[in-house]
Amino acid sequence: IEIPVTRVQRQKPRPEDAQLGFGQVFTDHMFLMDGAVDAGWSNPRIVPYGPLALEPATVALHYAQSVFEGLKAYRGQDDTVRLFRPDRNIARFNRSAARLCMPSIDPELFLAALKQLVATDRDWVPRAPGTSLYIRPVAFASDADLHVRPSRTYVFFIILSPVAAYYAEGFKPLRIRVEDRYVRSVRGGTGAAKTAGNYAGSLLAGEEAQKDGFAQVLWLDGINQEYIEEVGSMNIAFVIGDELVTPPLTGTLLEGVTRDSVLQLARDEGVQVAERPVAIAEVMAAARNGTLREAFGTGTAAVISPVGELAYKGERVRVQDGEVGPLSQRLYDRLSDIQRGRLPDRHGWMVAV
Ligand code: COI
Repeated sequence: IEIPVTRVQRQKPRPEDAQLGFGQVFTDHMFLMDGAVDAGWSNPRIVPYGPLALEPATVALHYAQSVFEGLKAYRGQDDTVRLFRPDRNIARFNRSAARLCMPSIDPELFLAALKQLVATDRDWVPRAPGTSLYIRPVAFASDADLHVRPSRTYVFFIILSPVAAYYAEGFKPLRIRVEDRYVRSVRGGTGAAKTAGNYAGSLLAGEEAQKDGFAQVLWLDGINQEYIEEVGSMNIAFVIGDELVTPPLTGTLLEGVTRDSVLQLARDEGVQVAERPVAIAEVMAAARNGTLREAFGTGTAAVISPVGELAYKGERVRVQDGEVGPLSQRLYDRLSDIQRGRLPDRHGWMVAV
């Protein structure tokens, strides 16, 4: 699939790798295409990065009919640029789209768009340790129509951002508050879909937690607020005793690609892994009796983010003395080494651009 490219006239200055944060700098080009319920997706094109013109009545702005993805490209030691498990993100994108009544995108076209856009802006893929090119595909409803019903037209775009760590803390352990008032998702809801509204609904809890010095909140289930779900910007896992435990994918939390990869890497090295309901009471009890060894988040943006402190209903517990745990560190190193082409890609995760 050949996608036409309109190049920028003048390239933007690129930031030094050491200056990178997360998601505030964008590359020279973006991918765009138009969708219609009856006609499918058409006019795929790579054009200069720039503003979109939207009618104020655009459905996505009113009713949040929109979905997105997050994946990364890495520059290897050999200078090859590789995408990490794009097939997983493409499949999840299409599941999110189905949940939001949006047309799916042919996986082959999606992958061609990712590869050709990254190839066009390959000079933007940073090389310093801990950096990568973050890729953000988005589809949104573009009808100008105030009926609450699925739009008939859509826009799909992909933008690119050279990034370092998502959290200001870098790889330093995060302080996390277990959220006991608001909920993120409920049974039958959109919790497993990567849709804009999930993130909008999480902002207030996050703001309140940040005022109290926490990086993020850890969400509990929306029924009894008893079982752990996810953090919103990442999935969560705990080392309790000798077991790596993480909540199962029951439809209320995001099916993280990093989550899946980290569980695989842990199993590869013989770690006992359990995907099972994890009660917050169990985690707090394990923290009190010393069997909560490690806690960490997993996500494309977050990579592996160690958790050094948990606060729940006024009780604060330290995890791993606020340091990075040995398994967290090892899994982070393994994953980064595979992504950078320093370790063999045994599972066929990397796709060269
Ligand atoms: C990601 O990890 O890619 C995410 O989408 C999480 C967050 C930045 C929204």
